[in-house]
Amino acid sequence: MTEVYKTDPLKPDRVIIRKAAEIIKEGGLVAFPTETVYGLGADALNAEAIRKIFKAKRRPLNNPLIVHVADNEHIRKLARKVPREAEELIERFFPGPLTIVLRKKPIVPDETTADLPTVGIRMPDHKIALSLIEESGTSIAAPSANTAGRPSPTRAQHVLEDLYGKVDLVIDGGETKFGLESTVLDLTVKPPQILRPGAVTLEMLREVLGTVRIHPAVQGKIRGKELTAKSPGMRYRHYAPRADLIIIIGKDEDVQRKIEEMMQNFNVKRLRIGVATTTGREYQANHVEFLGESKKKIAKSLFDVLRRFDEADVDVILAEGVDERGLGLAIMNRLKKASGYKVIKT
Ligand code: TXA
Ligand code: MG
Repeated sequence: MTEVYKTDPLKPDRVIIRKAAEIIKEGGLVAFPTETVYGLGADALNAEAIRKIFKAKRRPLNNPLIVHVADNEHIRKLARKVPREAEELIERFFPGPLTIVLRKKPIVPDETTADLPTVGIRMPDHKIALSLIEESGTSIAAPSANTAGRPSPTRAQHVLEDLYGKVDLVIDGGETKFGLESTVLDLTVKPPQILRPGAVTLEMLREVLGTVRIHPAVQGKIRGKELTAKSPGMRYRHYAPRADLIIIIGKDEDVQRKIEEMMQNFNVKRLRIGVATTTGREYQANHVEFLGESKKKIAKSLFDVLRRFDEADVDVILAEGVDERGLGLAIMNRLKKASGYKVIKT
């Protein structure tokens, strides 16, 4: 029921792209790689196809989808107006890991935007994604290709773990470059507000726009019921491994001492312990994963590592945090969400 085709991300096979585009045109589902994570795509303007995405992912119906385009002309078809700030961002960051939220035109079905008057638009920087969109002749709505609540897929294997049998075709283009989903920036408010941090960082956005705010939920400052309907994705527990995840932040030595201390306590309780380290320290835990020393590497490996802890069947995961500068804001946002906001400051 699910066909899988492997192709070179730098030189996608035309036959495979054409086959995938036919499925999109007929209202089916295609999972494909982007530079951030794999997406579960359908024709963004076909309400019936969009409903299939929500069903396959078991996604709450009030969480809107990002619409992917391959050229600026399609942005104008979707957005009621493209303000000057948007023009500047498009010029600077498209194609790339940035989604801009603009007021939508009626052509975009309410199913795609979960009844919001706005639409999130992004142009992925990936040959497979771009050629699939072009060949389909439409815009492609695509959430991350995971079951809702699970870590986003950075490899085709992750897609198959969650969606085998629920998607018509998977294009395997290897591991994705960034490993975290795109930055989501709301341009319908002043000043613009980051709803989800990603590889286009706050610092980079401020260089172009001047003032940019971070939605308080991004850093876990407000959660649950306090959240408004404007940024629905923030309301759900995301990326959650089966084990309890606890993040420890502070100076390296303090963090390491705290983790050793917590491990002793958990050992007494006979719990299986996992540690995710960003410093490369060797812990005597049941399962240790090194996320990488640079933020770039940590971002790229994070979701894969979270899935591996599930396979290792640990009861609790202790994770060394990072500072929130640059890409650190996105890394900590995903870690905090995965932990249900359990953060210990040493
Ligand atoms: O990197 C990415 O963005 C990946 C790849 C496949 O492009 N896609 C992705 O989609 O992460 P998804 O559905 O997993 O996350 C979309 C996020 C959600 O948090 C959603 O609430 C938010 O974007 N979003 C989409 N449209 C929005 C809108 N009109 N207003 C506010 N937030 C929106
Ligand atoms: Mg997602």
